[in-house]
Amino acid sequence: MMMKWWQNAVVYQIYPRSFQDSNGDGIGDIQGIISRLDYLQELGIDAVWLSPVYASPNDDNGYDISNYQAIHPDYGTMADMDELIEKARDRNIRIVMDLVVNHTSDEHQWFIEAKKGKDSPYRDYYIWRDPVAGGVPNNLTSAFSGSAWTLDENSGQYYLHLFSSKQPDLNWENEQVRREVYDMMNFWLDKGIGGFRMDVIDLIGKVPDKEITADGPKLHDYIQEMHQETLKGRDVMTVGETWSATPETARLYSHPDREELSMIFQFEHILLEEEPDKSKWDIKDLDLVEWKKVLTKWQVELTADGWNSLFWNNHDTPRVVSRWGNDTTYRKESAKLFAILLHHMRGTPYIFQGEEIGMTNRVIQSVDEVDDIESRNMYYERLEKGYSEEELLHLINVRGRDNARTPIQWDDSKHAGFTEETPWLPVQPNHVEVNVKQALEDKESVFYTYQKLIRLRKENPILVRGDFKLLLPAHPTVFAYERQFEGERWLVCGNISSEPQEISLSESGEADVMIVSNYSRAAVDLKAIQLKPYEAFSIKLK
Ligand code: GLC
Ligand code: CA
Repeated sequence: MMMKWWQNAVVYQIYPRSFQDSNGDGIGDIQGIISRLDYLQELGIDAVWLSPVYASPNDDNGYDISNYQAIHPDYGTMADMDELIEKARDRNIRIVMDLVVNHTSDEHQWFIEAKKGKDSPYRDYYIWRDPVAGGVPNNLTSAFSGSAWTLDENSGQYYLHLFSSKQPDLNWENEQVRREVYDMMNFWLDKGIGGFRMDVIDLIGKVPDKEITADGPKLHDYIQEMHQETLKGRDVMTVGETWSATPETARLYSHPDREELSMIFQFEHILLEEEPDKSKWDIKDLDLVEWKKVLTKWQVELTADGWNSLFWNNHDTPRVVSRWGNDTTYRKESAKLFAILLHHMRGTPYIFQGEEIGMTNRVIQSVDEVDDIESRNMYYERLEKGYSEEELLHLINVRGRDNARTPIQWDDSKHAGFTEETPWLPVQPNHVEVNVKQALEDKESVFYTYQKLIRLRKENPILVRGDFKLLLPAHPTVFAYERQFEGERWLVCGNISSEPQEISLSESGEADVMIVSNYSRAAVDLKAIQLKPYEAFSIKLK
């Protein structure tokens, strides 16, 4: 099998608003990113997935784009963007742009034109329906609470928005819309970017009248057409954000012969924290045995005929160390444990900015502290339904998107070296201990575990290509697995708990050299392993 560069790559996600401010307005920007490229190079990553930097009224922090070929002045200029692409390339880092084409902003010129009336040439760029019985056309709801339909007073018709009312959905059935999107993609590809991360791409084939949103009948036709018109013949990577994915649909997206995408983000392991068929805010405790089963399913069912992406967190989720680890007593240990468990699996790993130093969730006491539209809308909707304020703040602290969006903690100074002035979202108090400067000075820091893991993937084809076998499937806290490739075998093991555990992995044979350990463990007797709280290691087997 011919390997692609993105198969042994590690991708680093930058949420630009919170990465590095360069001009003292409290908002991260492109020059800020450029100033930190050496840091990223030292970490060893191959590509940056850059969350949106396009022109936007920021109703959803840039996921509501008003001009796909312009940079938001908060972030800089197109010249800054070109400079970033070039300076990153000098360091062998590719810039993967966020492609948000399920919807635009309502301030995009297309929508402004479309709203002018039923005979506007842009009308059909969006999805309009007449009222039904004097109300909304059907029961489709927005991911950000309430109906997915908003009335346009002027024409008396409703338009569809699966996210906020300032994010009208594009009508992908309209060939002209598709043409515009492909032209825009080619504009960026011609600049030499490394590819695209495709926002909620599983929704573009929607059939609103049948209340079908994800996985519509024409979804894969559109993606194949997009591939032919834009990606074909270019050495780029693409990753689709697909909350609905199953291993079966993942093969449709990522089988190389089908010429669609390089890989997708699947969310099954994240969705285990929700009551089935309810919302993201109807939470339940994570069952680790189920979680291991889901991760294993994706490892074994997507092999030569598809490709996995691997991640624990992103700008839409809480931080892993706070959510599934322990961000107080065992912050470093558990941050390293999740790094070790992820980076030994098959697929392309993604690191969310700050994860590599073990940054933690933000804790809020009042809704006034919340910026994120999703959390705010949920809060007010549920408050009206009678939920208590306390309950709702708890939900936001557990699952809200601002958790992971606080500024990067570069050092222990007043605003953590992120900005000179007041940051758009407050810097977390623990920046005095948890920061990049400290991490770089301490050879035992979380940072160096990530650096080592990234290097390991480049040097060991077993990590990229080896088979995966789950061990101890029923163990309630230990995630252990073997990788195997051309006669070589590695064992990976982690105790996701603050209690010590004793296990036996004697069926794996005999231990050889230790590869990575978060407790400086030198050796292990597979017949009786005493695991400390959040201990993880990987070892070669004889
Ligand atoms: C994706 C993005 C999220 C955004 C939504 C709507 O899920 O990751 O941040 O709010 O799409 O664009
Ligand atoms: Ca700035």
